[in-house]
Amino acid sequence: MESLKTRIEALTQEINTIVPATKEELEAYRIKYLGTKGLVKEVFGGMKDVAAENKKEAGQVLNAFKQFAEAHYEKYSHLQQGGNGNSKKIDLSLPGSNVPLGTRHPLRIVENKIVEIFERLGFGVAEGPEIEDDWHNFTSLNMPEDHTARDMQDTFYVSQNPDWLLRTHTSSVQARVLEEGNLPVRVICPGRVYRNETISARAHCFFHQCEGLYIDENVSFADLKQTLYAFVTEMFGEGTKVRFRPSYFPFTEPSAEMDISCTVCGGSGCSLCKHTGWVEILGCGMVHPDLLRNFNIDPEKYTGFAFGMGVERITQIRYQVNDLRLYSQNDVRFLKQFTVKT
Ligand code: DAH
Repeated sequence: MESLKTRIEALTQEINTIVPATKEELEAYRIKYLGTKGLVKEVFGGMKDVAAENKKEAGQVLNAFKQFAEAHYEKYSHLQQGGNGNSKKIDLSLPGSNVPLGTRHPLRIVENKIVEIFERLGFGVAEGPEIEDDWHNFTSLNMPEDHTARDMQDTFYVSQNPDWLLRTHTSSVQARVLEEGNLPVRVICPGRVYRNETISARAHCFFHQCEGLYIDENVSFADLKQTLYAFVTEMFGEGTKVRFRPSYFPFTEPSAEMDISCTVCGGSGCSLCKHTGWVEILGCGMVHPDLLRNFNIDPEKYTGFAFGMGVERITQIRYQVNDLRLYSQNDVRFLKQFTVKT
C-alpha cells in the first residue's frame, strides 16, 4: 500500500511538470499516462498486491489519481484543434492592445479650476436650463422689453408667445437661484450660453460663462474686490495685478469691468493685451436693488455682488488659444495638447 502511494505521489509530481505546447506533445502525454498501456493503467495493476483490508483505500487513491491525470489532459485539450496546435495558443506575455486615453477638454479643465477656486472661497455650484424664458434671461434682471441693453445680446428665440429662448448669459441662473428664496446665497453658475453671432476667430454662436452671486447682509464692494482678487491670484498666479473700470450692466449698480495685468508679456505689451498691458476678464457689480425687489428681497436688509466671466476668455489667456473655433472643432491634435494644470 505504501509503495503504491509513493509511486502515485511521484507520478503526480511528474505530471505537474508537463506543460504540453503542441497537439503532438499533448498526444504524447495521453499515450504515456492515459493510454491502454499507459502509466495510469499500470499503477491500477498494483491493486492486486494490496492487502485485502487496504483495498478500499487503495481504490480511492487510484481513482483520484486517474481523475487528476485526465484533468491535466483536459486542461490542454484546446491544443487538439487546428493544424500544429499553435493556432489556439495564447501568448500571455504579448503586450495588450493600445487603447488611447482621452484628455479633458481645455474649457472643462478651466471651468473645473474656476469652480474649485470658488468652492474653496465658500461658493456652492448652481445650474439652470439652457432653454430659458424671457423673465429669467431678461426681464427679472432689469432688462425690460424696450431696454437698450437687450441690443447687446442677439438672441436665438425658440418660440414666441410664450417666449422661449437659448439663454444669452448665465445671469439667468441668478434669477433661478433668487426665486428659490434661500438667503444668504453664495453660488457660482457655470454653463453654456448662446448668441446669434457670425462664427469667426473672435466670436461664436455658443460659448461658456461662469456667473457668481453672493447675497447676504452687509456685503460690500470691498468684498467683491477681495473675492475676485483671490480668484485671480489662484487662477493666474501670485503677483497678477487687477484693476476695476466703471461700466454699465442693467443688473448691477455700480457696475465694473475687471482687467488683469497681461500674463503673457507681464505688462510690456503684446498681441493678447493689444499692447495695453491689461486684459479684460469679467463684468461685475453690486446687485441692483430693483433686481432684489423682483424676487421679494428687501434691499435695505440685503446687499450682494455678482460677476460673470467668459470661460473661453480665461482659457485663451491661460493657454494662448487665439481662435475660438478650435474649441468646438474636435480636432484631436488640438485637444490632446492640454493637460490638467493645478
Ligand atoms: N451677463 C453679462 C454678460 O453676459 C456678464 C455679467 C456682467 C454678469 C456683470 C454679471 C455682472 O453678473 O454683474 O456679458
